[in-house]
Amino acid sequence: MKLSVIGCGYLGAVHAACMAKMGHEVVGIDLDTAKIEALAKGQAPFFEPGLPELLTEAMATGRLRFASDIAAAKGSQVHFVCVGTPQRKGENAADLTYVNGAFESLVPHLSDGDLVVGKSTVPVGTAKRMADLIDAGTADASLAWNPEFLREGFAVKDTLHPDRLVYGVASGEESDPATAILDGVYATPLSEGTPRLVADFATAELVKVAANSFLATKISFINAMAELCEATGADVTKLADAIGHDVRIGRRFLNAGLGFGGGCLPKDIRAFMARAGELGADEALTFLREVDNINIRRRRRMVELTQEICGGTLAGARVAVLGAAFKPDSDDVRDSPALDVAAIIGQRGATVVVTDPEAIHTAQRLRPELTYVETADEAAKGADVVLLLTEWKQFRELDPTTFGDTMTGKRILDGRNVLDPAAWRAAGWTYRALGRP
Ligand code: UDX
Repeated sequence: MKLSVIGCGYLGAVHAACMAKMGHEVVGIDLDTAKIEALAKGQAPFFEPGLPELLTEAMATGRLRFASDIAAAKGSQVHFVCVGTPQRKGENAADLTYVNGAFESLVPHLSDGDLVVGKSTVPVGTAKRMADLIDAGTADASLAWNPEFLREGFAVKDTLHPDRLVYGVASGEESDPATAILDGVYATPLSEGTPRLVADFATAELVKVAANSFLATKISFINAMAELCEATGADVTKLADAIGHDVRIGRRFLNAGLGFGGGCLPKDIRAFMARAGELGADEALTFLREVDNINIRRRRRMVELTQEICGGTLAGARVAVLGAAFKPDSDDVRDSPALDVAAIIGQRGATVVVTDPEAIHTAQRLRPELTYVETADEAAKGADVVLLLTEWKQFRELDPTTFGDTMTGKRILDGRNVLDPAAWRAAGWTYRALGRP
């Protein structure tokens, strides 16, 4: 099938490449010419495992091209809108500028029979508004909403082999013509048995924010337990293992530590609360405010612990920070707990030396005041304390017997509960963590 993908960020670039891999003829469109030029050369504009290889492979087949003019969408039968919906400055609500702009610029280029498919995470009610916009255009085109659940770091795998497909269609019924078109697009994953659910627009929009709210709640739940563990001397990692054995609870997303960040979870729960308020249903989501508060408290606790271990003041201390990305296998520093903690510690008078395997360039843009080095060993040179804030494999596998020899004293704060406390203590380290004795 001939597809266009509007917006080539984390979501769109991966979607475009994966659709080409599935055999479709795809044009990826983005207003950012620098991004388009990089993609056209087969270069991923951000770090995502497997994406450069996939881009090269797809470009070689001739089925994938990129353009910066929206007119390039003309001639495609299905148009995926994959633009961002960031948090509005100073507010909780989502900024829909890019979604509105994408639809407004796309509508004049639609032809009869085209299907526009929204993939962006939007406040419930947006799809209905976009459907009206399409109806007001001259072409007899229609809309579907098809939320995306990909995780950064696993984006290619999650797109090629999704754990479910959700189609929001105008009638809310399977028999809707949009269902057959989307089944054609997703023929490959459907043939592998991927579950597919058809719903109305509002349900499809809600599925995405409900899923992210649940994940955020699960993380904040275990982090609230970590606060209790800190008050009692209990161990949150053992607690998580024990409750996780109950299949109704499950162990995944129960890793206590510095909490969630990134371009999705934090802004999605806030936008969801804002939308609920507009709908007069704010009481239903007041718990999400607590989820957000617990999450932010973990960052403050990490700063306090660092201050404590530095003898009560951060002024003049030298702090090594391992990790800047919001999670491993990503160079994304949007709302990164690691970078946030590093910045606060810097503001309190410490010299902060940050390292990250992939996110130094993105972190430098956001926090130019911090010092960046290439390796953990360089970061630890002369440091009073090491903070492990993003659990990259290379940090999880640090050897406590050889690492940190040039520090002023061997002190480590494990912000992600990924190190073996016994091994580090045996090697002479003062080991502290969030939610562990
Ligand atoms: C998330 C959703 O998982 C994905 O389905 C959706 O499409 C987009 O948002 P992503 O933002 O890539 O994906 O990251 P995710 O793996 O969900 O992690 C989010 C944050 O939670 C990270 O900062 C991570 O460090 C943190 N986290 C995750 C924990 O603190 N503990 C856990 O147990 C799991």
